[in-house]
Amino acid sequence: MRILAIESSCDETGAAVIEHGRIIRSNVVASQASIHERYGGVVPEVASRHQLDALIPVVEAALREASATWDEIDAIAATYGPGLAGSLLVGLTGGKALALARGLPFIGVNHLEAHIYANWLRPQTGDHAAPTTNGENDEDDEDDEWPGDPRFPLLALVVSGAHSELVSIPRHGRYELLGQTRDDAAGEAFDKVARVMGLGYPGGPAIQHAAALRDSNSKNRFRLPRAWLNGTWDFSFSGLKTAVLQLVEGAEHGAEAGASRYAREGAAQASGLPIPDLAAAFQDAVVDVLATKTVRAAQALEVRQVVLAGGVAANIALRDRLSRELAALGIDLRYPPVALCTDNAAMIGAAAWFHLRQGERSRLDLDVRPNLQLPFAESSSS
Ligand code: KG4
Ligand code: ZN
Repeated sequence: MRILAIESSCDETGAAVIEHGRIIRSNVVASQASIHERYGGVVPEVASRHQLDALIPVVEAALREASATWDEIDAIAATYGPGLAGSLLVGLTGGKALALARGLPFIGVNHLEAHIYANWLRPQTGDHAAPTTNGENDEDDEDDEWPGDPRFPLLALVVSGAHSELVSIPRHGRYELLGQTRDDAAGEAFDKVARVMGLGYPGGPAIQHAAALRDSNSKNRFRLPRAWLNGTWDFSFSGLKTAVLQLVEGAEHGAEAGASRYAREGAAQASGLPIPDLAAAFQDAVVDVLATKTVRAAQALEVRQVVLAGGVAANIALRDRLSRELAALGIDLRYPPVALCTDNAAMIGAAAWFHLRQGERSRLDLDVRPNLQLPFAESSSS
């Protein structure tokens, strides 16, 4: 089954052609980051206007790069939530219109579920033939697993611009919420802190980059707070964010004139604070909490595999620390390549496939759901 997938939930316009929910024939993303950078964050009205301009060219590019004609597309998928209403509307309406015009099945996809299913996508190299192990490659087998697929039961750490959740996934489509953020999402904290540090938007990659410039002798120069919320799997990042804010503000007021040797790195120019040290201390604090809780939850649930999902899953410090600690326990960590962690349409095609395989279809009056959550079931394990 070959799916044309569309993603437009925020400031990225994506279209992809995906086979068997795993093989990327094309994956085109038009980012507006450079436009929103000057505002220090996404401006919804600007985002939806650019979605409108980008959608058709991006869809055409995805078909072209996949060398696919419309006759070779079997279904259309588009994100219907969560995200910015105006942005979602562009991709969802476009997807439904294309499905109607071409007489193709349509499925609306939950963006958060898609971030998780990015872990089913194969790297874009080599021979894409479907595996034929056991001599069985029956396209109608609904439970088919391919070698290399993530193995249930899974624990997922979903960390994006608006979500931070620990989720137990015993099988396809079943999500049990263990814990979530009580205030800011991890990505949101990265973005806000990067902003006060003058590092630009999006904040995650900027902070990771700045942190890499830390002089290893200056470790532990800043002690930043961690909210453990012991006894729960919940997170909280607003105290940490406020602590950084206060440090920057305090330094700004007490700054010695011309003291900032970090200005050339685009740092909080006036503050005189050593931005790499501060960025690293902040990143350490976020990673410390995310990794510690994820490792404990993996042990408590006795899972064999953990998957990372969402934009913050691109963070190298988080990946490194988790792989190290989980490996020591014999637990496998999986995460998508960076380009498939941040918003893209390939992951929409991956999630769509598993629903379409079950015979699911969306009606063409499906509306956008800006506040959509994962479809949580009652937890059996907490
Ligand atoms: O999943 P995503 O692309 O969009 C949402 O669905 O929200 O996540 C975007 C978030 C942003 O907050 C961005 O700063 C963060 O992911 N992010 C990172 C990194 N790359 C992106 N955070 C930390 N380290 C990174 N390397
Ligand atoms: Zn996302």
